[in-house]
Amino acid sequence: MSEITIFGARPLFGNITPSGSKNAALPIIFAALAVSGVSVLYDLPDITDVRVALDIISDFGAKIERDGRRVTLDTRNVAYKKPDKKLTSRIRASSYLIGACLSRFGEFDLSEVGGCNFCNRPLDMHLYAAEKLGTKIEGERLSASRLSGADIKFNKISVGATINALIMASRAKGVTRIFGAAREPHVKNVIRYLRAAGAEICDSADALTVKGSILSGAEVKIIPDMIEAGTFLLLGPLTGGMVSVDIPKDAGLESFFEVLSDSGISISRNENIVSAWGEPFKKIRVSTSPHPGFPTDLQPQTAPLMARYHGGEIIENVWQDRFSYLNSLSAFGIKSDKIVGGRRINPSRIGAAECEAPDLRGGAAAVLSALVAEGKSKIKNTELIMRGYADIWAKLRSLGARIE
Ligand code: EPU
Repeated sequence: MSEITIFGARPLFGNITPSGSKNAALPIIFAALAVSGVSVLYDLPDITDVRVALDIISDFGAKIERDGRRVTLDTRNVAYKKPDKKLTSRIRASSYLIGACLSRFGEFDLSEVGGCNFCNRPLDMHLYAAEKLGTKIEGERLSASRLSGADIKFNKISVGATINALIMASRAKGVTRIFGAAREPHVKNVIRYLRAAGAEICDSADALTVKGSILSGAEVKIIPDMIEAGTFLLLGPLTGGMVSVDIPKDAGLESFFEVLSDSGISISRNENIVSAWGEPFKKIRVSTSPHPGFPTDLQPQTAPLMARYHGGEIIENVWQDRFSYLNSLSAFGIKSDKIVGGRRINPSRIGAAECEAPDLRGGAAAVLSALVAEGKSKIKNTELIMRGYADIWAKLRSLGARIE
């Protein structure tokens, strides 16, 4: 178990360029398995989850060449084999093997998927989409002699199920319409890759319409990580400093900016550079929802900001139970109460503490708490944080943080 020591209460100043998006990079790596050819991915982040995803596809025979942030995936000579549970159980994104393997090999054996276990994470919508496109499901065994286009009607919004449906539809015979699809910027990044690989995908208000095709290798640039950008932006107001991030207008952070500026925090944009500083003058209210709503993956990181100033409320509409991280934050003195649909975060004196990172975003919230607390804090289990934040310690040090 690795650990870091943070000496907090130092105002942080500076500019950060976020790495490539984890939640775009992971599905694109698996989508490349559905494609026969050589794909080039630019700005692939160097994080643990990405390394595991690359190991999983290389287990099927994909050849991988890494040259810094540019990675070449050659999936011309791949063959099906039962996925290695030791690898698939390490990341949630291994669920994209459902779409990739059914499209490429016509078979898949459901394997244990991993990821942050902040609550129950079902796969029923992924399997519904596979079944709609012609997959036979017998226990853990999935098979499809040829996927065929169909109407898929999701009754709630799922990033993962939308992406799996897109991967399968892109190689299926005929036309698929996906109703109730997720539209997160990372879903759009996957669409750009599949289009470049040969799929015809039309995005209209009510559905994603996909005309399947033979897919060949393609180039794609991974978008900057919106969650990393948001996490770093919080550091300005949180530490009494000012932090800027380089993030385009369509990054999907509008509702995040709105919540911060409604509370009195200053947010400015100059071209692609967004800066945040100043103190909130009232309670911060967060209510998460799929894009274009407030991203659930940024709610744990807002808790220390609420606690430091006038408190706030978090209503979680994507992962109802995503609050176990508050046990770790309570070590820093952050107090919270249960309310209908979420938690109230009370104004609290944040003090130095030792804790274990509970999961990726909860771990980031613990780091933010330690950066506010006066004195020496220790955070253990930092592997979980490195699953999703590339070069996080170096980036924090560049802003003036003291981290050992
Ligand atoms: N859901 C179902 N059935 C399914 C799939 C999802 O009921 O078959 C429900 C979930 O229980 C949840 C909601 O639908 O209530 C949304 O889940 P979604 O499928 O969108 O989540 P995901 O694809 O498993 C991705 C990200 C998560 C992020 C969510 C929501 C990846 C690898 N993970 O998960 O990221 O929270 O979308 O935006 O892309 C993180 O980065 O820390 C993280 C957890």
